[in-house]
Amino acid sequence: MINKKWSLLIALLSLHIGAQQTESIKTRNSSAEKDAADREIAQLKRDLKVAHDQINDLQLELEKAQQYPLLDAIFSGANGFLIPQEEKNSISHRGGAPTYGEIKYPSLDAILHDLNVDENDVFYDLGSGVGKTVMQAHLNYPFQKTVGVELAPTRHKQAEAVADKLRNRMLEFRQEDMLTTDLSDATVIYMCSTCFSDDLMGKLLDRFTKLKPGLVVITLKELPDRAKSVGFDLIKKYTLPMSWSAGNSVYVYKYTKPRK
Ligand SMILES: C[S@@+](CC[C@H](N)C(=O)[O-])C[C@H]1O[C@@H](n2cnc3c(N)ncnc32)[C@H](O)[C@@H]1O
Repeated sequence: MINKKWSLLIALLSLHIGAQQTESIKTRNSSAEKDAADREIAQLKRDLKVAHDQINDLQLELEKAQQYPLLDAIFSGANGFLIPQEEKNSISHRGGAPTYGEIKYPSLDAILHDLNVDENDVFYDLGSGVGKTVMQAHLNYPFQKTVGVELAPTRHKQAEAVADKLRNRMLEFRQEDMLTTDLSDATVIYMCSTCFSDDLMGKLLDRFTKLKPGLVVITLKELPDRAKSVGFDLIKKYTLPMSWSAGNSVYVYKYTKPRK
């Protein structure tokens, strides 16, 4: 956070210096001097635009970061790591893994910020745990609806308890299986799939091919090799911090194949 503030200060300073330099260049007289001055001014304008863009991005990042203590407070009592053995068995039985982990707030922001989502988008987290990702997407972005799908009742109940406290737009937590839950309105799907089996990934890909073209799938495990042939293009790859790793791969796919 301190680094961001310094970057913002430096960008503001370069903006100020650039404006002053432009004014002093304008006072030059001879034609050679004027040509050189025009070139310098053009360069300064480009530099000023870069500084402006940097400031906008940093301001957005700072605004988002201000939400993190709020999210921490909302989830202060929640813990997705401890669940009964029978719930672990039920997850394993369906190809998932009982191991728990969470994406870090800035990591999710880095991805969703780049997607430029709007009020026509519907966000799903398949395997939403205690619901942090869904809540962050709900509070920080203009999604029409944000849905968390979680199989383990212990985790699902904690997410519901939080949602009850601040339900204000379409925010939904379902205690359902990601292989059978209704995904028909999804436009953005996130899944912390590191531990999903190949079989589960294959079944999910089959489900996704029945959804709307334009669908974005954000996944920590690559989609199966055949994804490209059924219309899923890898559009971006990130390496971002998670609760269990300082740098974990994140793959973003877009479904472009129109439905027949
Ligand atoms: C690694 S956690 C991710 C938590 C959250 N998405 C995050 O990133 O902060 C994966 C979750 O998927 C859930 N899960 C596994 N298989 C599932 C299935 N078939 N249907 C729904 N949820 C499932 C697990 O119970 C676990 O809570």
